[in-house]
Amino acid sequence: MKRSLRPLFLLLLIIILFAAMLTSSDILRHGTPSIDLESRVPIRHLPPPQINVTLLRHAAVEIGEESISHEIQNLLNFRHWLHFQNLLQNWFRKRRFQPGIMSELTRSIKLPIDSHNNNNKLQTNSKNKYSSCAVVGNSGILLNRDYGSEIDSHEFVIRLNNARVDHFETKVGKKTSISFMNSNILHLCARRGGCFCHPYGDRVPIVTYICQAMHFMDYTVCNASHKAPLLVTDPRFDVLCARIVKYYSLKRFVEESGKGLEKWGEAHDGSLFHYSSGMQAVMLALGICDRVSMFGFGKSTSAKHHYHTNQKAEHQLHDYEAEYAFYRDLVDGKRPIPFLEDRFKVLPVVMYQ
Ligand SMILES: *[C@@H]1O[C@H](CO)[C@@H](O)[C@H](O)[C@H]1NC(C)=O
Ligand SMILES: *[C@@H]1O[C@H](CO)[C@@H](O)[C@H](O)[C@H]1NC(C)=O
Repeated sequence: MKRSLRPLFLLLLIIILFAAMLTSSDILRHGTPSIDLESRVPIRHLPPPQINVTLLRHAAVEIGEESISHEIQNLLNFRHWLHFQNLLQNWFRKRRFQPGIMSELTRSIKLPIDSHNNNNKLQTNSKNKYSSCAVVGNSGILLNRDYGSEIDSHEFVIRLNNARVDHFETKVGKKTSISFMNSNILHLCARRGGCFCHPYGDRVPIVTYICQAMHFMDYTVCNASHKAPLLVTDPRFDVLCARIVKYYSLKRFVEESGKGLEKWGEAHDGSLFHYSSGMQAVMLALGICDRVSMFGFGKSTSAKHHYHTNQKAEHQLHDYEAEYAFYRDLVDGKRPIPFLEDRFKVLPVVMYQ
């Protein structure tokens, strides 16, 4: 290469390099035109997404619509308000510990039921207790035996929380003297037309305990349309039952966990803790019957939780083990029972398993 050409060659080289740098940075900034084309073209040609008309129509149906409007109609029914307030106030005033309430159950529960069953003619013997009562729990263990006729042979049969008897007659019998329930069940009934709450027929009296004060609303609505007595348990009776179960629950907690009593509340959801319907039904039977038989209480690994549902888990707000301990004391004739007065004679109970 000639000496005079060298600077020119260098200059050319610099220009080429510079041009190459510009091109590559341009590509980096904008991407290659071919990639750009590929990513845009298919989207521009997609059909708009279809809305499925069948799904639209079904989604527009409000499942709870009928029961919600029914509930609101009930609440708007103004004539019930005053009555609701009075009932709630009286109930709240009476709410205290008074074990003597056990001796008043024949008057407050048995008397109105007897007078209903005898077409309102007052019975001279309504101070007497029923000779025999069967309390039918809802445990799946009932399906293991045929206790139907044994249960029906009792003078008075108490069933719990509207568990149905249809198709289970050989196992659980068909006679029902009262339907005992917690007020959650009554609340469900109140959402139905005419407060339908009668799997045993509308002549069967209902006894309910109030587990939420608002349920007095359901009570006032339902009592107005109910043909048979609809009775609310005395709050003093509720307090008594709550104390007995708590006693057994505390005892079990300390013995089994080794922890202090003050830890019990955490283990049992303190304020939500509640006796079960079955427990209070047994207490009611102790008050109005001379002889009490229990059916369908207890559990077994081979049995369902309820004979009539597929519910799996037990409610955490109950301490069934504590209640079983209480029943065992009743069956064994172990006395005294905590919180019950000495003058109230607790007769032995028979448990069928
Ligand atoms: C709409 O959805 C329903 C239910 O999934 C389905 O049976 C039906 O074939 C769908 N209709 C159309 C047009 O895709
Ligand atoms: C419930 O209804 C019955 C019958 O109508 C009535 O006699 C009774 O007083 C009512 N009870 C309450 C607490 O409202």
